Amino acid sequence: MDHKELMKIAMKAREKAYAPYSGYRVGAALLCEDGTVYTGCNIENAAYTPTNCAERTAFFKAVSEGQRHFVKIAVSGGRETAAPCMPCGVCRQVMAEFCRPESFKIVYLDDSGEIGEMLLKELLPKSFGPENLGS
Ligand code: THU
Repeated sequence: MDHKELMKIAMKAREKAYAPYSGYRVGAALLCEDGTVYTGCNIENAAYTPTNCAERTAFFKAVSEGQRHFVKIAVSGGRETAAPCMPCGVCRQVMAEFCRPESFKIVYLDDSGEIGEMLLKELLPKSFGPENLGS
């Protein structure tokens, strides 16, 4: 699946965002190695800290369904319309748990609305991961 198609799915997933507090709606689409796509949206909470980002929603859905191998994730977020939105630090750490930093890609919208890509190793260099614990 190409970047553009995956981004379209992320933008559609954004419509499901539950963001009554920030008004900032995010959608994500995660492509697994077997070709399955899992979507996610941000899910906020009145107590604030239980809020889950769109990217982690997608990862947790996928992992809970037995998926362990991932190719890329597309993310879009914004208040009015989908805009550039890069994964937060916590989501990058979750990606580092399951993805190869040198091949997993984050697909995003840049400031001019064009699609860009970055490798996980660029977004989270020198990360702490399973290998630090001998796993
Ligand atoms: N958010 C995401 O869903 N993903 C990100 O990568 C950045 C932030 C959500 C969390 C919160 O619901 C809202 O955006 C504002 O921070």
